[in-house]
This record gives sequence, structure tokens and C-alpha cells, in this order.
Amino acid sequence: MTTPAIEARNLSAGYGKEAVIRSINIVVNPGEVVALLGSNGAGKTTTMLTLSGELSPLDGEVLIDGKVSKAPLHIRAKNGLSYVTEEKSVIMGLSTRDNLRVGKADVAEALKLFPSLEKRIDVAGGSLSGGEQQMLTLARALGRKPKVLLADELSMGLAPLIVQRLLQAVREAADTTGAGVLLVEQHVRQALKYADRAYVMRRGVVELEGSAKDLASRIDEIEATYFAGAKD
Ligand SMILES: Nc1ncnc2c1ncn2[C@@H]1O[C@H](COP(=O)(O)OP(=O)(O)OP(=O)(O)O)[C@@H](O)[C@H]1O
Ligand SMILES: [Mg+2]
Repeated sequence: MTTPAIEARNLSAGYGKEAVIRSINIVVNPGEVVALLGSNGAGKTTTMLTLSGELSPLDGEVLIDGKVSKAPLHIRAKNGLSYVTEEKSVIMGLSTRDNLRVGKADVAEALKLFPSLEKRIDVAGGSLSGGEQQMLTLARALGRKPKVLLADELSMGLAPLIVQRLLQAVREAADTTGAGVLLVEQHVRQALKYADRAYVMRRGVVELEGSAKDLASRIDEIEATYFAGAKD
């Protein structure tokens, strides 16, 4: 049996004593791309924060490569976890090349993933387009050859072609390096094209889960959780 790259087991977490996510079970195997879907406020970012070690569980546990982890994010990062947060993380004053270097990413590897960054390699991060900045962010995260990639809304606000390019790169990385990827995405249809499996959260719990193929044929059910998900 495969040992999951990362796993949430009965995981509950929140920002005080009250749990915002409750009894979450998520498995990401090596080489898998798994989408985490759900309406605004469903608890996706809270789940990612807890998996990354930024937030401590109130109950349950996070397992990395089969072992319970209580380590903070910087230790998990050293051990092969890359976390792309909701906040933009390109350093605006540094060139593309230096952004890659400070992220300890292999520059050649990163350019292999996104050849279009090559002609922008000496340009300051702040002068890149929004799409290029997100390519750089992803290239930096993947250029470290992580065993686990957690990516929160990588493609927010970007044009469909760039969304596709980012998702393709994630798919490629999982296929070629065996990284396990958990991806929060608002572009549901696109995400399901590239993912192997998906979980749909609503109000702090996992409401639906299945193979991407199965869920792609149940888009109306997924959308129903979005409409029912909003807090009144
Ligand atoms: N720092 C915080 N302190 C207190 N409550 C928070 C904090 N961050 C988020 N929450 C609450 O936790 C719940 C889940 O939020 P979370 O950010 O995990 O949702 P999300 O699914 O990522 O939403 P979005 O799609 O808008 O990014 C929401 O009710 C939110 O108000
Ligand atoms: Mg979020």
C-alpha cells in the first residue's frame, strides 16, 4: 500500500478554541494532484494552514510520509514541503532569477517548467505581469523539488490560458517528480481536468469527495454546495 505524501486524519482546527474545520480526512499520495474545492469561507485555507504547520490542530493529526508531524512550517519546509499561500509572495524588488535563488529553487529546473520566464529572468518581480508573478511563485515552489506542494488559489484572477498553464505545470511536476499536490482552486472545471481526485468542503467539513472524473460529471452537485455554503 502507498504511504500518503500528506494526510489529514480527523483534523479539526480554528483560530481560537472553536473549530472552524471539523474532522477533516484528506489523503494525497505521491504523484497525485488533489483539488480542494468549496465556497468562500468553507475552510480551505484553514485546512492548508493546518497541513502546513502554520496552525496547530485542535484535534486529530497531520501525517507526512506516514508519520505524525507536529513540526512548524519552517521545519516541514526543510523536509520537502512547499506552501504557496493565498498572499502574493514574489519579492518585488528582486529579479526573477534572484526570486528563484532566495527560494532555493534550481533556476534551470524552474525555466524548464516555464520557458516564457527566461526572457524575463533579469526583470524585477514587481515589473512582471500578474500571470508571470504566479508562474514565478509556482516555479520557485516546484524548483525546490518538494515532496509535497500545498497551493492556495494559485490562479486567482488570472486569464484562462494562464490558469491552464499553471495547472499543467503542477500536473507535470507531480508526474515527473512524484510530488503529492493539494490545490485549492476556484476554477472548478479546469482543476478537475488536471486533478486525479478532489474534495469539496462546505462550512468546515468535507461534503463531497471522489475521482476528478466522477466529480466532473457531478458539477451541479458541487455547485449546489457552493450555493448552500454561504453564511447567512
Ligand atoms: N484569522 C482568522 N481568525 C478568525 N477566523 C478566521 C480567520 N481566518 C479565517 N477565519 C474564519 O474561518 C472560516 C474559514 O475560513 P477560510 O479562510 O479557511 O475559508 P476559505 O475556504 O479559504 O475561503 P476563501 O475561498 O474565501 O479563501 C471563515 O468563517 C473565516 O471567517
Ligand atoms: Mg482561502
